[in-house]
Amino acid sequence: MSPLLEVEGLAVSLPTPSGQVQVIKHLDLYVNSGEIVGIAGESGSGKSLTALTLLNLLPPGAVVEGSVRFDGRELVGLERREWQDVRGGGIAMVFQDSSSALHPMLSIGTQLTEHMGVGRSEARARAVELLDRMRIPRPETALRRYPHQFSGGMRQRIALAIALARRPRLLIADEPTTALDVTVQAGILALLEELRRDGDLAVLFITHDLGVLSALAQRAYVFYAGRVMESGATGDVLTAPRHPYTAALLGARPHGLSTTRSLRAIPGSPVSAAEVLPGCPFQPRCTFAEDACAATPPPVLPIGDGRALACRVAPELT
Ligand SMILES: Nc1ncnc2c1ncn2[C@@H]1O[C@H](COP(=O)(O)OP(=O)(O)OP(=O)(O)O)[C@@H](O)[C@H]1O
Ligand SMILES: [Mg+2]
Repeated sequence: MSPLLEVEGLAVSLPTPSGQVQVIKHLDLYVNSGEIVGIAGESGSGKSLTALTLLNLLPPGAVVEGSVRFDGRELVGLERREWQDVRGGGIAMVFQDSSSALHPMLSIGTQLTEHMGVGRSEARARAVELLDRMRIPRPETALRRYPHQFSGGMRQRIALAIALARRPRLLIADEPTTALDVTVQAGILALLEELRRDGDLAVLFITHDLGVLSALAQRAYVFYAGRVMESGATGDVLTAPRHPYTAALLGARPHGLSTTRSLRAIPGSPVSAAEVLPGCPFQPRCTFAEDACAATPPPVLPIGDGRALACRVAPELT
């Protein structure tokens, strides 16, 4: 069976004052139906741009090369109106900042039901059910209320309900819980897992938090400077990393995987995805680097057990 989402050789460049700059460099990634897949990486590594590419939400002048297939359909090169049905029922997105997803002047009920495409009473019933699943108290009353009448954590859950209202098969969630306190975050993560199990929902979950990644995702991709450094089953990647960058990320966590705190800096500055380097982007910060690492970027190669690694040296890491 082929994956629900299959990204092959994806490259994205954006216009900048100094010309077109390639930000995503030859990305391969897949998500099976009913699977939660995580993308982790430091700020500027290209996580959000990858998400925006999958929904054709890039800024004007962006150039996309390679292939993105969703449910067997090629998305790269689709016409604007063809994107409407991809966003309509296929792929939905929820962002870190829920206020950008909710319209302040429209009631929750209007925002939940406007794109359902079913009759009024059915839409209402479905909206109530969705809010109930999101643990919003008194859903019937909530439908008549406006975003400002809810707390930040509730707004985030309402934004999630709106994203799910059209029954997408893939939800792209870009740091949806980063701004929330730990208990609300745990509730949302549990909910996503429940939806995956019951509804066959696939989720592409973006986070810089390795604790969240290990709690939620079956498989993980570690991004650095617009490339995948390492991928595989989340447990394998986080307990037995093969890439010096993944190991450094794990080492940089103040209290191991058991907390939800964010990363402390790895020595040296992170390379932004927009920077152009001839070799491995992590080479300037890597204690294992050899001469060849600075010359050309290492290819991402399979290393067994469904894992892939972009490191020429592949040192023994403990
Ligand atoms: N509109 C744009 N024009 C030019 N460059 C951009 C644009 N948006 C992002 N970039 C560059 O692309 C790189 C990746 O950005 P992206 O937003 O995908 O990072 P990210 O991994 O989501 O980081 P964060 O964890 O901070 O959200 C950044 O280094 C940024 O400089
Ligand atoms: Mg981002």
